[in-house]
Amino acid sequence: MIQRCRECGKEYDVDEIIYNCECGGLLEIKYDLEKIKNEVSKEQLRERRSGVWRYLEYLPVKDTNKIVSLWEGGTPLYKCDNLAKKLGLKELYIKNEGANPTGSFKDRGMTVGVTRANELGAPVVGCASTGNTSASLAAYSARSGKKCIVLLPGGKVALGKLAQAMFYGAKVVQINGNFDQALVMIKNLALENKLYLLNSVNPFRLEGQKTIGFEICDQLDFEAPSTVILPVGNAGNISAIWKGFKEFKETDLIDSLPKMIGIQAEGAQPIVKAYKAQKDNINPEDNPETIATAIRIGNPVNAVKALEAIYQSNGLAEFVSDEEITAAQKLLAQTEGIFVEPASASSIAGLIKLLDMGAIDKEGKIVCITTGNGLKDPDAAIKASTLPSEIECDMEILKKVIEE
Ligand code: F0G
Repeated sequence: MIQRCRECGKEYDVDEIIYNCECGGLLEIKYDLEKIKNEVSKEQLRERRSGVWRYLEYLPVKDTNKIVSLWEGGTPLYKCDNLAKKLGLKELYIKNEGANPTGSFKDRGMTVGVTRANELGAPVVGCASTGNTSASLAAYSARSGKKCIVLLPGGKVALGKLAQAMFYGAKVVQINGNFDQALVMIKNLALENKLYLLNSVNPFRLEGQKTIGFEICDQLDFEAPSTVILPVGNAGNISAIWKGFKEFKETDLIDSLPKMIGIQAEGAQPIVKAYKAQKDNINPEDNPETIATAIRIGNPVNAVKALEAIYQSNGLAEFVSDEEITAAQKLLAQTEGIFVEPASASSIAGLIKLLDMGAIDKEGKIVCITTGNGLKDPDAAIKASTLPSEIECDMEILKKVIEE
């Protein structure tokens, strides 16, 4: 196991604390997959409890006594026949990451990232966040007795996420700026050794997130779906999940790979624009804006990895409007009983838009990943709902109201 730069190939020991290669390139964790192939079988994996740590051989941890876990992963893969029928699809699944301990997929990354911090003996951890990363890191650092510092964009963090970060006991600082600016600031603190950085520029965190890919295959009886659709913000997750699918294929646990489809919001779509221009890198957007505050990001750090995942998998990237996001959020809740936050609903909105464009194979096995729980952003949900009727305690009035 080694950290390797995906630009120049330079290798670093896994115990070296470094977030980018000397050349500026992003790092990736590489394993001896041939060895893993001989060590791991489907049957053996199935005997273990479901969750991130089921896939231990594929994770960058040396000392299992140092694992910090809240039983993350093992989230449901719902077969959504009501929605499939409505959209004219043969087979549609929702991988509901909102069912993680702090309500988002970030927990998969943090169990590995904070375990690494433990192995490295780091007493302070930190991140910049649009909300979910901070909630997750705050929880895992509480569980491991570490100090946690989180930087949030001013004014635009969904209330549930803010409540979590504060309540788990993190030092929460809101800047008068956006996520991209917060990330530059917290990274500077990390480079001055004030904290161990757990944003997705840290390749260890992404190793935990790749288990979404493992788990989808595992839940489909070791078959890969044909298409995976997910929201893209800082672009770590799409890159991580693609790495997971590739590692399962290289170790013979699956024999095909899905197309990776990344969805961004209309007001924050640097990756979509790069994809449409068939470029390998983005032009940052200075003033990202969307109701899906989780993906309100103009300068995604993992853009090159994400674009590579899209091109390699023969996938694509598309944007959706805030109105399409809210409509999809409601549709999912009201046809399947799955309540997700706006960013997560962008995967459904993207599916609907791409179906209209004829860009999706309706006969395939499609998985939409819903990344965060609907309770994270109660304001957005209430704004999009009909408010309750208020009445006197009178049976006649009640009967009239329910018949309306
Ligand atoms: N969905 C949700 C609910 C998120 O919170 C995020 C990212 C994404 C999708 C996008 O994932 O960044 O890996 O492309 N949230 C980060 C945060 C930025 O700080 O919580 P990505």
